[in-house]
Amino acid sequence: MEIDVFTLFPGWFDWFRSQRHVANALAAGHSLGYVSYRDHTPLKGGQVDDTPFGGGAGMVLRVDVMEHALRARYGRDPVDVRGERRVIALTPGGRMLDDALAGELAAEPALTLLCGRYEGFDQRIVDHYCTDEISIGRYVLAGGELAAMVVCDTVLRKLPGALGHADSAAEESFSAALEGGPEYPHYTRPADWRGWTVPEILLSGHHEEIRRWRLEQSRRRGAGGPEGPLP
Ligand code: ADE
Repeated sequence: MEIDVFTLFPGWFDWFRSQRHVANALAAGHSLGYVSYRDHTPLKGGQVDDTPFGGGAGMVLRVDVMEHALRARYGRDPVDVRGERRVIALTPGGRMLDDALAGELAAEPALTLLCGRYEGFDQRIVDHYCTDEISIGRYVLAGGELAAMVVCDTVLRKLPGALGHADSAAEESFSAALEGGPEYPHYTRPADWRGWTVPEILLSGHHEEIRRWRLEQSRRRGAGGPEGPLP
C-alpha cells in the first residue's frame, strides 16, 4: 500500500515512522510519504491559510494551496486523482473511524490523507478533491496530523507482516472473529499475584473451552455498548 500524508508538519511523522509495526510495514514494501503544504504554496511567505469569508474566528486552509500540493505530488489535475485512489480529508465531522472502515482502507492499494489545521479546509477542497471525510472522534483536534497517524496506525497493522504474529490482528477487538465485540481479557505470568488469580479455564489446556470462554467474555464486555463494559 502507498500512503501519502499532506501536512504542515511533516516532521511530526518522523517518530511515527520509527515505531516497530510501522517500520515493519515499510520494510515489507508499503510506503508512507509526506507532502508539506508550505513547500508548494504559490503565496508569499509560505502562506497556506486565510481568514474565512463571512467572518469568524480562525483560519482556513486555502483551496489553491491544496491544488498546488496535490499537483506537485501527482503531476495531474487533482480532480482526476480522486478517481484513482481514496483521497481522505481528516475532519471532526467525517465518517467515524472504526474497525470495519480500517479494514476497508487496508484493502486499498493507495490512500491520500489530507490534514487540516486551524478551522479546517475550504469546503471546495472536500467537495472537489476528496472521496471521503474521516473523523477519529467527535472532538476537535488542533489539526489532522494526530488523526492521520491514528488512521495509518490502524490500517498498517492490518497489513500482512506489520505485526509479529500472523493471528494478532484477526482475533482482536471489534474483529469479525469476535462478532464485532471488544476483546476478551488477557492474563500472563505470574498466575497468582497478591492472591489475584487467573481464571482456571485458561490454565486448563482445553482449547475449545477456552475459545468459548473468550467469546462469552467478549460478548459480556460488549453488552455495555459504546459506553464501555458493564460494571
Ligand atoms: N481534525 C481535527 N479534529 C479531528 C478529528 N476529531 N478527527 C479527524 N480529524 C480532525
